[in-house]
Amino acid sequence: MNSSSLAVGIDVGGSSIKCALVDITSGGFASERYAVPTPAQESTASLLDALGTLVAKIPGEHPIGLTFPCVIRGGFLRSAANINKAWIGQPLAKLAAKRLGRPVIALNDGDAAGLAEVRYGAARDVKGTVLVLTLGTGIGSALFIDGHLVPNTELGHLQVQGREAEHRASGRARVEDRLSWDSWAAQLTLVLQEMHALLWPELIVLCGGITEDPEEFMGKLRCEARLCVGAMRAEAGIVGAALATTLSDP
Ligand code: BGC
Repeated sequence: MNSSSLAVGIDVGGSSIKCALVDITSGGFASERYAVPTPAQESTASLLDALGTLVAKIPGEHPIGLTFPCVIRGGFLRSAANINKAWIGQPLAKLAAKRLGRPVIALNDGDAAGLAEVRYGAARDVKGTVLVLTLGTGIGSALFIDGHLVPNTELGHLQVQGREAEHRASGRARVEDRLSWDSWAAQLTLVLQEMHALLWPELIVLCGGITEDPEEFMGKLRCEARLCVGAMRAEAGIVGAALATTLSDP
């Protein structure tokens, strides 16, 4: 467990790997933010090399929190929806620690974004059930009950009227299906309503790059739960990854 106030957060998404030194006290960045494209379908060694290149930009001994767009249990990857399936079963935390020469905690990218929003952002001090969704290459989900994370919920793969949630309403689906903002908001509404019917959350927080344009779609969404855009926007994953180094059980 990290007792210093600085840690490196690395957020491996389906399309880019982002990284920064984070001040855990405030949730702000203590270095520049660095990014490279994710070699998502390349070998596990290529991805570890990409991590090495990024971390070399942040000298020091700071511990590392590392997200992956996968189910992660006990440091092992258990699924790989949007990256090379060769990752399944790999001891990610151990491999990354060896390659980077520093202690590494690994967790799901959606869970990391959620941890950041609950500690510093839009879900701070919210009691009851809170759902944080990241809308990027896939849809990541983080479920909290009174601030406690239920990890690896993977709601992006929920079937919504015969089609996976993330195939309907991820950021990638909007671009690949050439959806107008209205059509995409209608798809996201279907997804939110299905998730709401399952969990009845007090609040749903939307994060990810697409939330840089909230005026394009927030007013078009319909859901019984309170909806808001994440305060940490697309950086929630980096901050939550760093924060995870301070938690005994992220
Ligand atoms: C993966 C999740 C991930 C989400 C967002 C999904 O396809 O299964 O683990 O959190 O994409 O990257």
